[in-house]
Amino acid sequence: MMGAKTLPKAYAAPGLVMRDDAGVLADVMLDPVQVAVWDRHSPLDQQVVQLACREKLAVKSWLDVADLPASMKRSLPGEVFAPLREDLALLADMMACLFGATGVGLRVTALEKPMCPRFHVDRIPVRLLCTYGGPGSQWLPAPAVPAGLLVPGVEQEGRYAAESVQQLEAGQVALFKGDTWRDNPGSGVVHRSPPVSPGQQRLLVTLDI
Ligand SMILES: [Fe+2]
Repeated sequence: MMGAKTLPKAYAAPGLVMRDDAGVLADVMLDPVQVAVWDRHSPLDQQVVQLACREKLAVKSWLDVADLPASMKRSLPGEVFAPLREDLALLADMMACLFGATGVGLRVTALEKPMCPRFHVDRIPVRLLCTYGGPGSQWLPAPAVPAGLLVPGVEQEGRYAAESVQQLEAGQVALFKGDTWRDNPGSGVVHRSPPVSPGQQRLLVTLDI
């Protein structure tokens, strides 16, 4: 599965695999991979993103993979959100197939300020992220994480090399390993919400198993 296509130089970072086919997400099973990215454009019309942001859309629910259409409609009603439901159903199904899960946790957040502006590691096995509009999540490859960066309360600015910061683009689908991935503590991806300019909107979706 690896090496089907050479990574563009600009995207090459330790622990990253990225291709324009969804199959790349399965590469997250490989030990050296921290971040797997399906490089695609957002399938959503920006009007849907704007409406979600205007309505301050906030959804947190559990999706039953055996009945995704109904489960999606309960969590995210409204005809205008049909394209978002369709894409999320696809991603939830992929996530469930990949990890053998019968359900996935859905979180949809429309936000105008960073949710988690500090670099941190999630205490979960793995998370799927997609930003449909606005700047994508940022992360640091493991070799670029300086000692002490994650100590609570420590000032992070100036402790890491700014040019090491990787950033997802709108529409890309990423799997980030968390700190409880298999029996591999410490391998979680160090990441944060991107800085957002005043008035800039973001529609972020995460799926957890
Ligand atoms: Fe996080």
